[in-house]
Amino acid sequence: MYAERVLSGMRPTGRLHLGHYHGVLKNWVKLQEVHPCLFFVADWHALTTNYDTPQVIEDSVWDMVVDWLAAGVDPAQATLFIQSRVPEHAELHLLLSMMCPLGWLERVPTYKDQQEKLAGKDLSTYGFLGYPLLQSADILIYRADQVPVGEDQVPHVELTREIARRFNHLYGREPGFEDKAREAVRKLGSKRARLYAELRTRFQQEGDGEALEQAKALLEETQNLTLGDRERLYGYLEGGGKMILAEPEALLTEAPRMPGLDGQKMSKSYANTIYLREGDESVTRKIRTMQTDPARARRADPGDPEKCPVWQFHVIYSDDSTRAWVQEGCRSASIGCVECKQPVIDGVLKEQAVLRERAMPYVEDPGLVRNILADGCERARKLAQETMRDVREAMGLSYG
Ligand code: TRP
Ligand code: SF4
Repeated sequence: MYAERVLSGMRPTGRLHLGHYHGVLKNWVKLQEVHPCLFFVADWHALTTNYDTPQVIEDSVWDMVVDWLAAGVDPAQATLFIQSRVPEHAELHLLLSMMCPLGWLERVPTYKDQQEKLAGKDLSTYGFLGYPLLQSADILIYRADQVPVGEDQVPHVELTREIARRFNHLYGREPGFEDKAREAVRKLGSKRARLYAELRTRFQQEGDGEALEQAKALLEETQNLTLGDRERLYGYLEGGGKMILAEPEALLTEAPRMPGLDGQKMSKSYANTIYLREGDESVTRKIRTMQTDPARARRADPGDPEKCPVWQFHVIYSDDSTRAWVQEGCRSASIGCVECKQPVIDGVLKEQAVLRERAMPYVEDPGLVRNILADGCERARKLAQETMRDVREAMGLSYG
């Protein structure tokens, strides 16, 4: 079975916190074991909102990658790179901008939302409007199948699908497509050709998605196909022209929502974060001063864990018996909040120690990180260049 390619990016806009770790990075670590994964630093995306403070981006790039490595992202399994080191992303973004209707960008919900949220900043820029299209280029250039993202990013993946479809529709039509596709089917050899035809019929007549997947897997396993035939066969399956760009899927991360110190979502802008690789003392102080259920003004007052952000931390960090102890002790006032917080402090510190330990070699020798990224950029660039060859050809730009 063909392993689907996974791609995701993160903007370098400051230090990473436990929300990134539990919400994103742990998921990347799991994915890298089963899929070919590409993870990249979206520095150009960071510039769309931080164009007036580029220093922040420059300062965050390396630390962010060290945080990834600390979290267990493994450069032997996944390809790690920096967006701006693969300039083909910019070329694809430009070419897609030729055929992307303005309305598609204006109606992406993050466009207006972010402009309102970051009202202090002038975001009526060309670059910011193009943010989701640049993201589409990031995804399409690797023909990624799965894009792990948070909920707010799903519309960007949707846009990417529409862009891919529009691109294939506009540029995937070639004279005599049907004949060429049928010829390509024959080249599969009689056994595979029969299976392909049967799966294609099942998908086109009965809408059988499983059959579509099987047919794609069949093509993926077939070695001796030219690129052109491969694209024709993919396109022919779904009834369109040549499939030059592949439609990705959003992979919604099912992570426990990491609450901040105040119970709201953990986020730099709420000043309620615990950073990755933060000092023990500072972590301890932050948790000790966390708000608890206001009903427990005095030690003897009973409380309700559901109304307490500390409980949310227990959900992530504690085992069943500790959680039972909290539930019982809080409601009966048999434990105090200081006591209740201790297992959380212990849990976070233990986790931080593991992360710091993993980060140590990279902190001591930043050259290691540079090498990992140089290596990843090179691998990513090869893949990107392959797609760009097809894109240029399809758009009539491969002269000479
Ligand atoms: N926009 C994403 C975010 O803010 C970052 C990003 C840029 C991205 N390009 C991407 C994520 C491509 C997935 C795929 O989180
Ligand atoms: Fe929160 Fe624990 Fe105090 Fe209850 S005992 S209010 S759960 S800190």
